[in-house]
Amino acid sequence: VTAQTLRGDVAVLVPAAGAGVRLGPGGPKALRELAGEPLLVHAVRRLSVAPSVGQIVVAAPAGDVEAVCALLGPVAGVTVVAGGASRQASVAAALAAADPGFGIVLVHDAARALAPPELVERVAGAVRGGLPAVIPVLPVVDTIKQVDDAGRVVGTVDRAVLRAVQTPQGFRRDVLTAAHAAAVDEHTDDAGLAEKLGVAVHTVPGDEAALKITRPLDLTIAAAILGSATS
Ligand code: CTP
Ligand code: MG
Repeated sequence: VTAQTLRGDVAVLVPAAGAGVRLGPGGPKALRELAGEPLLVHAVRRLSVAPSVGQIVVAAPAGDVEAVCALLGPVAGVTVVAGGASRQASVAAALAAADPGFGIVLVHDAARALAPPELVERVAGAVRGGLPAVIPVLPVVDTIKQVDDAGRVVGTVDRAVLRAVQTPQGFRRDVLTAAHAAAVDEHTDDAGLAEKLGVAVHTVPGDEAALKITRPLDLTIAAAILGSATS
C-alpha cells in the first residue's frame, strides 16, 4: 500500500469483515476490486497518507486474515485482526488490538474506500481540539417518510433537521472504549453507542467521495470519482 511509516497520533480501526451481500455475488466486499485494486487497499492507502494517522487496525473476514496481510504488505503501523459476526464485533476486535498509546481513535468503514485524507484530518482535528466524539455528515437530499407495516405513509420527517452520517467517526479513546464496553444491542455506527452513554456527539462536514459502496451502482459511481480530475 505504502512504503512510508505512519507517524500520527491517531489509531484508525477499519471494519472490513462484511460479506457484501448487497453488492451481489463475488466474495467479501472489502476484497472486491475497484479500478483493479481491492476496496480495502483504496481505503488504507488514503488513511496512510493522512498525517494524523499513526496506526491502522484492519478487521478482516475471519478466513482472509492471511490474504489481507499479504495484500497490505509489511507496512509498519498496519495490524490485521479477524473481524466478528457484526460490524460492532469487528470494531470491538480492532479496538482491542489498537496500541493503547493512541488517545484518539477513528473508526472507518473499508466500504467507504474513497474517503479523502482531508476528511480524516477534519475529523481527527476536531477530536484533537477537545471534542469527545465527532462524525462527518451531509445534508439529506431525498424527502424522508415514515411508513407502517403495510407500507402506508405515517408522516413526513422534516428533512432540514436530518443528516446522513459517514465515516471516519472520531473519538477520544476512553469514550470509544466505554461506549463499546457498555453496548447491549447492535448499532450501525459507533457514535450511536456513544450517544447511548450520553456523550455529546459533534458533526463536521462530510464528503461525497466518502460514499459507502453498498450496491452495484455505487461501484460505478466510485469508478467515476476515481476517474474525475479532482480525485
Ligand atoms: N463489517 C465488518 N464486520 C461485519 C459486518 C460489516 O467489519 N461482520 C464492515 C464492512 O466490511 C464494511 C462496514 O462494516 O466495511 C460497513 O458495513 P456494510 O456496508 O453493511 O458492509 P457489508 O456488511 O459487507 O455489506 P452487506 O450488509 O451488504 O452484506
Ligand atoms: Mg452489512
